[in-house]
Amino acid sequence: MTTYLISNVSVVGGEPTDLLIRDGVVVEVGAGLAAAGATVLDATGLVALPGLVDLHTHLREPGREDAETVESGSRAAALGGYTAVCAMANTSPVADTAGVVEQVWRLGREAGLVDVQPIGAVTVGLAGERLAELGAMADSAAGVQIFSDDGHCVADPRLMRRALEYVKAFDGVIAQHAEEPRLTEGAQMHEGEVSTRLGLTGWPAVAEEAIIARDVLLAEHVGSRLHVCHVSTAGSVEVLRQAKARGVRVTAEVTPHHLLLTDERAQTYDPVFKVNPPLRTAADIAALREALADGVIDVIATDHAPHAVEDKECEWAYARPGMLGLETALSIALDVFGPRWDLIAERMSRTPARIAGLDGHGLDPAPGVPANLTLVDPAARRVIEPAELASRSRNTPYARMTLPGRIVATFLRGEPTVLDGKAVK
Ligand code: DOR
Ligand code: ZN
Repeated sequence: MTTYLISNVSVVGGEPTDLLIRDGVVVEVGAGLAAAGATVLDATGLVALPGLVDLHTHLREPGREDAETVESGSRAAALGGYTAVCAMANTSPVADTAGVVEQVWRLGREAGLVDVQPIGAVTVGLAGERLAELGAMADSAAGVQIFSDDGHCVADPRLMRRALEYVKAFDGVIAQHAEEPRLTEGAQMHEGEVSTRLGLTGWPAVAEEAIIARDVLLAEHVGSRLHVCHVSTAGSVEVLRQAKARGVRVTAEVTPHHLLLTDERAQTYDPVFKVNPPLRTAADIAALREALADGVIDVIATDHAPHAVEDKECEWAYARPGMLGLETALSIALDVFGPRWDLIAERMSRTPARIAGLDGHGLDPAPGVPANLTLVDPAARRVIEPAELASRSRNTPYARMTLPGRIVATFLRGEPTVLDGKAVK
């Protein structure tokens, strides 16, 4: 293995220093390091972060390899500064058995660009009727710890209770897509002034808030861990704030797009802005940003949702919901929060790694720590060109926007997956 000396780098925004990486591990941190035979990377002006960790990625394999594969999604992740991603279970077949989660896990190992940690489905076929083989998935080679029917809500409260009870035995997590389905039938966008004006059926904030309120009570009753996917409303933040104050074991994520884009984008009728939960209002965005800064929301997760052209470039009502996220998430975080490096490291690496139980990830570079890290050029600005993305899909809502920050290099256990802003393989 190559020995790397990363010189003059700011570790999570601190004073410039050097990092020596050997045999996959950070062996020394300090100014003026020298190492015979090491490959030197001059990182003047760059910031080193612990490799980013995404709790919510759709990799689409098996089943929709035209939209994304484990390999193409892993490459997009590495280019976005990630060293680990959690792969959602809404594939075809659904990841509801040990066999499918092991397949995804193995494909991730073969691609070798990020650690791919499969999420298992809560219910068979995501149908919301019978619990899937949670224990078999946990005991499989994939070692599943997080279970989610994402894309669908586990709407039946009895099933949700049973799922929480089941995973308690091994301290697993149920990650809920909070959407009361009876309140969102036919919904096309956020229910509010804009939906009224456009005449599109609305997805009311209360459909999310009611499920979160119910589930924090269930999690409290059972004493299990609940994670809330893609929180999108100010009311949800208040429910979470109260639950956390009572000591409920709940964590929550927000996506980059819910931190930046409002429902007014629907006025373009461009389906690239159709997503579930939908883009909300400026007041929601303000509450989400505040909640992320003060820790009521624990992490930024991408909900990277690649879709093939025919599923996206059609009439709004027929388009699938979802947008790309892996290659732009750090830039959006920088745009929204500025160079608050400790906050970014906490919300995009340390905390998601802890929630997912990913050993060796989410650790700041220090002697003895696995060298999972990313180097960011905070001064760079780039124009997002969909055709230049590594994802197989093109549905980015940031097309031709100029965004701050560029991932210069990413290391997975001491080996570069990205160098000079380009994927190594
Ligand atoms: O917009 C979304 N897309 N929301 C989801 O919950 C699922 C996801 C997908 O799989 O495309
Ligand atoms: Zn979802």
